[in-house]
Amino acid sequence: MPRNPFTVGQPVAPERFVGRENLIAIAFDQIYNRSNLAIWGGRGMGKTSFLNLLTSHHIWESQDLDPSKAVIVYLNCLDTQPFIPANFWRKIINLIREKTKDDTTIQPMVRELLKKPKITKDYLRLVLKRLGQQNKFLVLLLDDYDATFRSHSQYTETDVEVFLSECRNLAYHSSERKYLSMIVTSRRRLNETGPKLTPEKSPWYNHYAFQQLKPLNQKEVEKLLSQMQIPPALCDGIEEIAYGNPLLLQNVGFLYYHQMRSGETPSAEIFARELIAATEHFFQGTWELANELEQTLLMLIALSNLEGRVQKKRYNLGDINIIFSQKERELIDLEQRGVIKRSTVEENTVYSFSSTIMEWWVIKEIENTNAEILKQREKVFLNLMSHQQAEKVKNVIKYLSENKEAIKSIVKWLGKLAAYFA
Ligand SMILES: Nc1ncnc2c1ncn2[C@@H]1O[C@H](COP(=O)(O)OP(=O)(O)OP(=O)(O)O)[C@@H](O)[C@H]1O
Ligand SMILES: [Mg+2]
Repeated sequence: MPRNPFTVGQPVAPERFVGRENLIAIAFDQIYNRSNLAIWGGRGMGKTSFLNLLTSHHIWESQDLDPSKAVIVYLNCLDTQPFIPANFWRKIINLIREKTKDDTTIQPMVRELLKKPKITKDYLRLVLKRLGQQNKFLVLLLDDYDATFRSHSQYTETDVEVFLSECRNLAYHSSERKYLSMIVTSRRRLNETGPKLTPEKSPWYNHYAFQQLKPLNQKEVEKLLSQMQIPPALCDGIEEIAYGNPLLLQNVGFLYYHQMRSGETPSAEIFARELIAATEHFFQGTWELANELEQTLLMLIALSNLEGRVQKKRYNLGDINIIFSQKERELIDLEQRGVIKRSTVEENTVYSFSSTIMEWWVIKEIENTNAEILKQREKVFLNLMSHQQAEKVKNVIKYLSENKEAIKSIVKWLGKLAAYFA
């Protein structure tokens, strides 16, 4: 029985990891220089898979570096929730203990340290010093680092700042920094979600090189899908749904492989439904993780793209391009996270969704907008646009929520993919 070659539900194994050559080279430059790197990327863009790749000895060797000189520790900061710095430092020292089982000088030391009731970053400094004496160094791979920004009753906002400045101290000021390289990932750039800088505060993120994990490019997409023979017409359809997002690409491939293996050619309707069922959490998460302003901008993009597809006389949005030109920073951010894309048509900037399913999802949200939700959104509308313009947008939303049949069915949203299966 041939096994499905696509990876769903876990980070991709290093031998199946596709592309990202530039980022790999940059990461190893930073490791070589015992420096630091902050990678940010949207959902499913491959942050965990990338850090996992950096733990592979094979990739170290391909970059001409000796992995036996490094202690490579991976920790997902979401695993230590609610976040408490002492637990975090303990986890790291414990992971170092696990990774140095054969080292008779490190083992007794870390065992002693782990007996202490409260572990601080200074204990890690001692461990780094000892590693340095052994001609070794630590590569600390911290996934979802932004989880450390969230304060709670036992971890105040001041504690967050103290913790982040301790990390900076370790990686930038201490003399043991020579034995440490830190690579962190987050959904958004650190400066966007972490504590704001003021003159009297430690510039807690200034020691990182920043790199964005972008959607896979055309070549990388082809390589990922080349694990099975996919007809070109279907590839175009996949592009409309997955747009270089590895998680979506793997899901589409997984489903298609499964259906081909079972010998059935599904109808467009069935394929669309199964694909949406398999990826709904992704689109829901993208929507829920967007803030109110971003959600409103996504709604406006969807509404402006619907214009012309529904009855004209009831659909007057006014000039929402002005809003887009005023909110360029937010739109660039959504674009960088792979949610939307931009193109130029007759010298005008046009925004559209990277995935037709995301567009369909946002339209569904608009359809389900009742009077109460509309009232809540009104404040954001009025921050963005004039009273008159807000009224127009509200009228269109009201019209769509009352005329659900005005919108195409799921299958038609899938455009080329539907055409292929038809
Ligand atoms: N470079 C890659 N090559 C092939 N598959 C990849 C690659 N990067 C990620 N994937 C696939 O995409 C899916 C999502 O990857 P991953 O979990 O690493 O993303 P993430 O950015 O950590 O997501 P989240 O934001 O949810 O934590 C996984 O199933 C993985 O198999
Ligand atoms: Mg992840």
